[in-house]
Amino acid sequence: MILLLGITLCVLLVVFLLLLFARQLINKNKIERLKKEKQLVATQSVLEGETAERTRLARDLHDGLGGMLSSVRFNLYGLKNGATIDNNDVDLFNKALNTLDESIRELRRVAHNMMPNSLTRYGLKPALVDFCNSISIVKFSYFGSGNRLDSKLEVMIYRTVHELINNALKHTGAEEIIVQVIQELDRIAITVQDDGCGFDATSPTEGTGLNNIQDRVGSYNGRMEIWSKVGEGTEISVEFILSE
Ligand SMILES: Nc1ncnc2c1ncn2[C@@H]1O[C@H](COP(=O)(O)OP(=O)(O)OP(=O)(O)O)[C@@H](O)[C@H]1O
Ligand SMILES: [Mg+2]
Repeated sequence: MILLLGITLCVLLVVFLLLLFARQLINKNKIERLKKEKQLVATQSVLEGETAERTRLARDLHDGLGGMLSSVRFNLYGLKNGATIDNNDVDLFNKALNTLDESIRELRRVAHNMMPNSLTRYGLKPALVDFCNSISIVKFSYFGSGNRLDSKLEVMIYRTVHELINNALKHTGAEEIIVQVIQELDRIAITVQDDGCGFDATSPTEGTGLNNIQDRVGSYNGRMEIWSKVGEGTEISVEFILSE
């Protein structure tokens, strides 16, 4: 009888311990999930804030300053046709007009890169085609449907490609940059490859570009992999998971 009671108590104790363990495991998983959700919300709110700010800045630059410069240009061209300008000043005047034309083009380029219209209006693929075609050494291919994605994700991916190409232009002296995007139902993968100077990806850096990409990729359960060797170029691939 005592033996039976003992065995029953032992079994109850084991069951109790197992239940306790299972509960702890569930709690741990729950905490992990909440942490991830919190990180996702935080990253997305930062991105939303940035996107709103960039959109406002781009619009102000384009419509405000851009509009003012265009009206100065219009008046100066009017002056050119009507006024008598001293021969010595004609060259100077034409140079000033050319610089003004260049400034207007540059302003439009900056505003466009800050938040391209084509991204919000037509989606990732056309916006990336536009951007990549504007840089002669970039070879761009897009495989997959090109279907519209969540707008936050589209901005995130656009900025990722933008940053990787900018890095390749800024740091490497590359002669060719190959950009590939593969869009599948459950993931989107980006590879940017350059034949520039390469670098040691393990050494610490002051820059924020690659760290920002890492954070954003993390919030989509994705991953970033860097392959680089000094003197042999760089290949960076980034993957975002579209659905669980
Ligand atoms: N494609 C590349 N080829 C060679 N070096 C690179 C490449 N991409 C990044 N690097 C190196 O890695 C460093 C970190 O890049 P990261 O984009 O984080 O910062 P950054 O470009 O220096 O500054 P930021 O992006 O904040 O303007 C760079 O300073 C550069 O030395
Ligand atoms: Mg950078």
